[in-house]
Amino acid sequence: MHQSSPQPLTAHEETRSAWNTNAAFWDERMGEGNDFVNVLIWPAVQRLLDIQPGARVLDIACGNGLTARRLADLGATVVASDFAETMIDHARQRSAGYSARITYQVLDATDEAALTALGGKPFDAALCSMALFDMAEIDPLFRALAQLLRPGGSFVFSLMHPCFNNPFTTHSAETSNGKGGSTTRYAVKVYGYMTAATAHGTALRNQPQPHIYFHRALSTLLESGFCAGFVVDGLEERAFPPGDDPAANQPLSWSSAYSEIPPVMVVRMRRS
Ligand SMILES: C[S@@+](CC[C@H](N)C(=O)[O-])C[C@H]1O[C@@H](n2cnc3c(N)ncnc32)[C@H](O)[C@@H]1O
Repeated sequence: MHQSSPQPLTAHEETRSAWNTNAAFWDERMGEGNDFVNVLIWPAVQRLLDIQPGARVLDIACGNGLTARRLADLGATVVASDFAETMIDHARQRSAGYSARITYQVLDATDEAALTALGGKPFDAALCSMALFDMAEIDPLFRALAQLLRPGGSFVFSLMHPCFNNPFTTHSAETSNGKGGSTTRYAVKVYGYMTAATAHGTALRNQPQPHIYFHRALSTLLESGFCAGFVVDGLEERAFPPGDDPAANQPLSWSSAYSEIPPVMVVRMRRS
């Protein structure tokens, strides 16, 4: 009897499978937010979204729902979605008490038809925090958002900064001895940027299964929004402030040692 061999997973399917596998680990480690979220991402997201009480907000690729809960706490009514069912299970478990303000859905943000089917009353704003680089395609999302947002509605997204924090960058520390003693300078080396490319990596140290990152140059990324009729009207580059912990424990991790180099970028686009 002829047995057909299984088809290899597409990059998109592999990404979904990895996020389902990693969901429990992510939920436990991320909880209600780490330093990246609390220091770098959320303050800029909150400023750029400028949520008004009663706003209807779409949270795309919501993970364990940590931003959905923060948006609800600001008075928004939130539709939060993610393509990993296991992640949505964790989000629901963490959101007891939010049932009147957050609705969770399993939804693939590369599926334009599924997104536009959310329809109904237009959204005042949409958020996609630290996930566009997980998506094999982003044009469908921008096209769908052009229909789902009210005129003037904003789409805020946070990213690993594509120039300084992409799969083709490395960290280095160089120590030299001079008159005043030894000095250590921390640097980021950039080996790739212009060409869209994929690479496996991890979002959290010791993550069970590495997943695929879809790197895009900033111009490529924003072009997807421009083509769908969006303009950029807000942008923040976020670095850890200079401080007293110059990477003491992990000298090559993002920290105050790199206060001149932003690992995160947060962008607001608006329907023009
Ligand atoms: C780095 S996590 C960020 C989660 C959350 N936004 C946060 O800030 O905590 C990336 C999330 O994107 C989701 N994701 C990746 N590709 C997706 C897609 N095509 N559609 C929907 N969700 C997706 C993953 O399942 C994962 O939950």
